[in-house]
Amino acid sequence: MPQVLSTMSGELDQSLVTAVQVLRAGGLVAFPTETVYGLGADARQEQAVRKIFAAKHRPATHPVIVHLPSAEQLDEWSVDVSDAARRVAAACWPGPVTMVLRAANHVSPIVTGGSNTVGLRVPGHSVALVLLRQFGGAIAAPSANRFTRVSPTTAAHVVEDLGEAVDVVLDAGSTPVGIESTIVDFAQNPPVLLRTGAISAEQLTDVAGVFITMANVGQTASPGQHPVHYSPATKVVACRAERLADCVDYYRRQKERLVVLAWQSELERYSNVVWWQWPSDLEQVGRDLYARLRLIDSQLFDLAIVELPATTGLGAALADRLRRAAGSTEFEG
Ligand code: TXA
Ligand code: MG
Repeated sequence: MPQVLSTMSGELDQSLVTAVQVLRAGGLVAFPTETVYGLGADARQEQAVRKIFAAKHRPATHPVIVHLPSAEQLDEWSVDVSDAARRVAAACWPGPVTMVLRAANHVSPIVTGGSNTVGLRVPGHSVALVLLRQFGGAIAAPSANRFTRVSPTTAAHVVEDLGEAVDVVLDAGSTPVGIESTIVDFAQNPPVLLRTGAISAEQLTDVAGVFITMANVGQTASPGQHPVHYSPATKVVACRAERLADCVDYYRRQKERLVVLAWQSELERYSNVVWWQWPSDLEQVGRDLYARLRLIDSQLFDLAIVELPATTGLGAALADRLRRAAGSTEFEG
């Protein structure tokens, strides 16, 4: 088992000393960010970054995000940074936004997946920030889950997925946002949204002062963004709100035990249908989403039906993750 270290006030200092030692020695430290837990390694040690890929069973062509202690390190890791990108860094960092930029020369191809760009972000979580500051460098970190599994939002999820493959897990409870950062590619002009997240494309367009196109969202623009990402093992079907009644009626005749994750309240009571109703507050749904998707597997349903929310603001990111959980199968029935 990895060492799971507390970040409660009396224990934080000792936990950080251990975590920093492990990073310096080329080991792996899972740590909380405001979005999901990351699986961190010293971004300047290739051998350490390679271990991330082995631990996750992740293909080597998928680049990893480099986490920085502050926006001041932007020019150490990237070149040709546009004014629009600088405005986003100033307004959104620390926070749940990753910017893809032209990589500085020293950045390892293991980190960039062999491309000439690097994803950078300053995470908005106090434990991540003190870790980065005490480490005094950049930490390369994808989400701390096995490849294609749902991202971890608790330390227990990390241990469940990665076990021995990680040396230390800094435990700070549940992550407050619960879904991965928004990714914008500023190496393209105009910039392109590669992944939706808590900060919407509209908000980013306002802050950047340039239009951010959504052209690539939903396609495999970003390696690792293929449609079966974020899937539970149980079959999941996505369904628009207005088709939900038909969808439930169709599958309850075919399956022994199914679960419905919906904003609507239970439509009709069926003996083989379990209904999990989301709260109307979408931020709370974001926080609970991945823990719920993991519960689908642990409770051994034969099928899960997920209602898709309206795709404005945070709804766009939730709909994206729910669609991916469904492997992009949507009820047409
Ligand atoms: O919220 C997050 O972003 C979390 C926390 C830990 O920071 N990290 C995360 O990392 O979700 P990961 O690796 O699971 O997802 C990052 C995505 C991947 O699809 C990766 O391919 C893409 O970002 N990415 C990273 N660097 C890139 C680059 N240079 N160009 C294009 N896509 C990139
Ligand atoms: Mg991931």
